[in-house]
Amino acid sequence: MARITASVYTSHVPAIGAALDMGKTHEDYWQPLFAGYDFSKQWMKDNKPDVIFLVYNDHATAFSLDMIPTFAIGTAAQYQPADEGWGPRPVPVVQGHPVLAAHIAHSVIQQDFDLTIVNNMAVDHGLTVPLSLMCGELDPVTDAWPCPVIPFAVNVVQYPVPSGARCFALGQAIRKAVESFDDDINVHIWGTGGMSHQLQGARAGLINREWDNHWLDQLIQDPVACAQTPHIDYVREAGSEGIELVMWLIARGAMSDIESGQATGPAPTLRHRFYHVPASNTAVGHAILEAG
Ligand code: DHB
Ligand code: FE
Repeated sequence: MARITASVYTSHVPAIGAALDMGKTHEDYWQPLFAGYDFSKQWMKDNKPDVIFLVYNDHATAFSLDMIPTFAIGTAAQYQPADEGWGPRPVPVVQGHPVLAAHIAHSVIQQDFDLTIVNNMAVDHGLTVPLSLMCGELDPVTDAWPCPVIPFAVNVVQYPVPSGARCFALGQAIRKAVESFDDDINVHIWGTGGMSHQLQGARAGLINREWDNHWLDQLIQDPVACAQTPHIDYVREAGSEGIELVMWLIARGAMSDIESGQATGPAPTLRHRFYHVPASNTAVGHAILEAG
């Protein structure tokens, strides 16, 4: 059967993509940020997945106010990097896994989560920046990402957005779906976005190191409690865009210690944890958990 062997958590700041694409990674401003991912790039090589199930949010790129799916699963064979205003990032096209994606859609919908099925979508920095951080710099033409990716887009842009508790429960349904896939493959689930940041309004620039780190402690050690964090706490403490963090609870809920909403099995192993301020307007958080 297929197994989820690890979860990866990382911020997705678009300026990180620009720094990579414009050769700025060694500048004083960026070097400490990229150093936090040196371990992770080696870990990806040593623990190469067969498929990445990548939970991210679209930033009015593939979707708009015309249509706002709460949870959208990509079932396409491939996904083009989007043009976000400065042209598409020069990164390889993202190959999908239509067979596993269709299986997960079937199983998760049968478990009463009403997913939107998307057969055609461009992917923005929410997906490509985490891939670049974890896989390093690749030539858009001659290189490929290390494995197929199933994009899973969550609406955290336009209210109403899903709760952390709903995301945590969805992660559990995704693990069941993966484990009911017959092929013997190794799947990583990634939760992306966050940490504290607010891009507009009177509190633009807000960063809350203490809250971020406490939330990350809880995500790792007591995810059941973390999942109870109400929306208002994210917005008040981590800024309006801090709400992106609910996506990390999908990945955490998919870890094998969580069963029927409780932490029952062996806890996952924390392989890496990193926190850095600033990257653009954002606090960057990152963690890697291997299934226990
Ligand atoms: C920034 C962060 C984001 O998560 C995003 O989607 C856009 C911009 C920023 O820090 O500038
Ligand atoms: Fe974002």
